[in-house]
Amino acid sequence: MKQTYISENIIECLGEGVICIDTSLIITVYNQAAERISGLSRSLAIGKHISDIFPKDTWFTEILKKTLREGKIFIEHENIIYQRGAQIKPGVDGIVPINVSTSVITDSNGDMIGAVALLRDLSSIKTIQEESVRKDRLAFLGTFAAGVAHEVKNPLGGIRGAAQLLSRRIKEKGLTEYTNVIVREVDRLNKILEEVLDFANPRKINPLPINIHEVLDTIILLGDAMAQNKEVRIIKSYDPSLPLITGDKEPLTQVFLNLIKNSIEAVARDGEIMVNTRVLTDFHLVEGREANIHSGHKTAKMASIEIKDNGCGISKENMEKIFTPFFTTKAKGSGLGLALSFRIIKEHGGFFRIESTEGKGTTISVFLPIAEIAL
Ligand SMILES: Nc1ncnc2c1ncn2[C@@H]1O[C@H](COP(=O)(O)OP(=O)(O)OP(=O)(O)O)[C@@H](O)[C@H]1O
Ligand SMILES: [Mg+2]
Repeated sequence: MKQTYISENIIECLGEGVICIDTSLIITVYNQAAERISGLSRSLAIGKHISDIFPKDTWFTEILKKTLREGKIFIEHENIIYQRGAQIKPGVDGIVPINVSTSVITDSNGDMIGAVALLRDLSSIKTIQEESVRKDRLAFLGTFAAGVAHEVKNPLGGIRGAAQLLSRRIKEKGLTEYTNVIVREVDRLNKILEEVLDFANPRKINPLPINIHEVLDTIILLGDAMAQNKEVRIIKSYDPSLPLITGDKEPLTQVFLNLIKNSIEAVARDGEIMVNTRVLTDFHLVEGREANIHSGHKTAKMASIEIKDNGCGISKENMEKIFTPFFTTKAKGSGLGLALSFRIIKEHGGFFRIESTEGKGTTISVFLPIAEIAL
């Protein structure tokens, strides 16, 4: 008696769905996992013919019949089950990818008394597989986009040159405005193409001990020029004791330029952008990510460079997408600024932290490792 009780418990606790039938294909056992996978409660299933419970899944009845009549067992047969959620979760009527193994059940005399099917839910495995296919597709798209960008760049050069020639020949005032538009728009396209090419074929970084304040000063000057017709104040607050960091000036300039540009684009007329730096001591890192202070992993000193604005902020929904290549909410944006910056910072062994409230503003912090010689 006790033994039967334990066996029942084991069956009940299994992660795999267990469905047993007798020789007339009537369901005798239906565990919790089977309920979850099929979306049908055991009280409805037990005592019913298998084909009444799985009317759409004729393949399932077929393999159980084959197991019963021919003694044929199936091992990890992959297929799908139509989930009938109405009884357990109202309105659910999904498709669950599963694999099924079957076996005959015999009594102590060796006579067949039924069959058992073990059902394994493959939904999460499929999600992982799909994710990896998506990544492959993205990598392919990157290469493809780079190829197209490369091809488009040359004719664009021609268009720009021709527009410039034309503008010199045109005597009629006002018409040169059109050629100027052509040149300006070609320049904008060229910039996007450069970014696409950069994205697909990143230059290898050459990290050296550098003073990040020098990089930031250049950016602030450029930022002031960019913000000209917007009355934006850029306020800097540097930690004078900030040691040198390990980095490559050129790509880092690109990163902070992208960040300042985003802030300028996000703020309204009386915008305010703060650029703060400080040292974070005893910073604990796990694979380049911020971790629990007590995790016992390698500690590192990091520099934090914070760009804070009082602009439009980022909605919760968009927050997850802002680092995705080509995601933009701007009419003239390419959506590559943050994706590119993310990669550059990752290559430096650093990372980002973003806090944003819609309508209030955004703070983007970049963490970069401090140079060994400075430690
Ligand atoms: N400081 C910020 N304030 C508000 N939204 C921001 C800020 N920074 C980024 N975003 C949002 O993230 C999106 C992606 O930014 P990203 O810099 O990658 O592309 P972009 O600015 O749209 O185009 P590009 O930088 O290529 O001109 C932006 O379109 C914007 O919606
Ligand atoms: Mg941008």
